[in-house]
Amino acid sequence: MDSQSRETDFGRVLISIFGPPCPSSELVSIHVGVTLDRLSIISSDGTVLCGVGLMNEKVLPESMAGYRLTLLPGDGTGREVMNEVKRVLSVFQDSGAIPLEISEIPCGGQHYLDYGEEWPQGSFEFCRDESDAIVVGAVGWPGATLPNGDIAGGQALLGLRSALDLYANVRPVKLYKGVKHKVHGTFTDVWNHELVDIVMVRENTEGLYHALLRRSGMAARGGERDEPLVIDGFPGLEGEVGWDVRPISRKGSERVIRFSFELAKRRQSKLDSTQKVTCVDKSNVTRGCRLFREVFREVASEFEGVESNEAFIDAFTMWLVRNPEDLDVVVLPNMFGDIATDLASVLQGGMGMAASANIGDNHMLFEPVHGSSPKHAGQNKVNPIASISSVQLMFDSLGLRHDDEKATICADVLERAISEHMSTGGLVTYDLGGRASTTEVGQAISSRCAEILLEMSG
Ligand code: IPM
Ligand code: MG
Repeated sequence: MDSQSRETDFGRVLISIFGPPCPSSELVSIHVGVTLDRLSIISSDGTVLCGVGLMNEKVLPESMAGYRLTLLPGDGTGREVMNEVKRVLSVFQDSGAIPLEISEIPCGGQHYLDYGEEWPQGSFEFCRDESDAIVVGAVGWPGATLPNGDIAGGQALLGLRSALDLYANVRPVKLYKGVKHKVHGTFTDVWNHELVDIVMVRENTEGLYHALLRRSGMAARGGERDEPLVIDGFPGLEGEVGWDVRPISRKGSERVIRFSFELAKRRQSKLDSTQKVTCVDKSNVTRGCRLFREVFREVASEFEGVESNEAFIDAFTMWLVRNPEDLDVVVLPNMFGDIATDLASVLQGGMGMAASANIGDNHMLFEPVHGSSPKHAGQNKVNPIASISSVQLMFDSLGLRHDDEKATICADVLERAISEHMSTGGLVTYDLGGRASTTEVGQAISSRCAEILLEMSG
């Protein structure tokens, strides 16, 4: 046993052990499913047998084939809502509605403080090569900062957004009947649930966050060196200057805008109503936004039958709260999308209700929009619906990508369960005016899913 020994600390890994000794090049493969906190497997001749990257569809027995889901609970309340994600997933899996292969990887700022790494070695490759979908809880923890000042755990979210090229950050703003709005500390009906059904699509790989995304992506892939832009002094400014660039490319704009129009077309047939795509930018001031809007107009001209609309971000924030009924699909550059979606979440009951999908051409990742909420962590009190709704988005996206009706049905069941839970006065957490725990809400929605699935099978 020599220096080759390595460790992985995946919560659950599937391992194929090859050899040794292995006459000729024939493969001896043993499949082992383990649930451990920390795992080291070393063969008798000292060769490292590590689970990561060894599993693939070819060696999976037929009975185990299913969507490969990788869960990244992360920090604080991210871990708590992930328990409810697992609960709901097990209902779909146990009922036979959809086959799933679930793996879990520890990661985040707390993991960094404990182990000195943002996630175990090989995690990025596992997410890239062995996952049909990834679900993140939340990353970020007070005091957990990398030596370069970046947020520790960033690899598991920003790194994946960048390195897996997840260019469309889809954030639905749907108000379920029964959800109250918290304003001035009291719960009341401000917006009408029949008039709030928007999907915000945030560009997810460039813009103002490009440098950090790129750095995190390079760290996730490993071994690449960042070459930061250097500018000595800004004309017209004196003394120390902190600055950021905001590159917006034609290619990056075109793909996210096209994605938004395609989404509007699908909504058009699903909802049987004309859809409008609104481009939100600041093209009266910035060059990047001028290009974004120019590309928007070009792409819009290819989609006859889908309406298009344009707004500046400042005025848009006012219309969003005053006339949300005028909005269907909204496409925005990265930073405007980040800010506007937090504001928009107020219309749907707050961050506890805001789900998201990060979609690229080859990969997909789902996460609640809220963070790890250190102040509420460890109390079993935060709202798990944002993360459960992210699972709904996952089923829907898997259904679309794989043309799989089973996955689409799971998405519909989950949507119905959440909607009925809210409209019939089901248990809610403190942020929606209730007293229920994270677990209680997760259990209630999971049971409702089980009932609907049973009803459908009967
Ligand atoms: C979000 C978050 C992240 C972002 C942070 C944690 C970097 O605010 O997903 O909206 O800005 O992308
Ligand atoms: Mg944000």
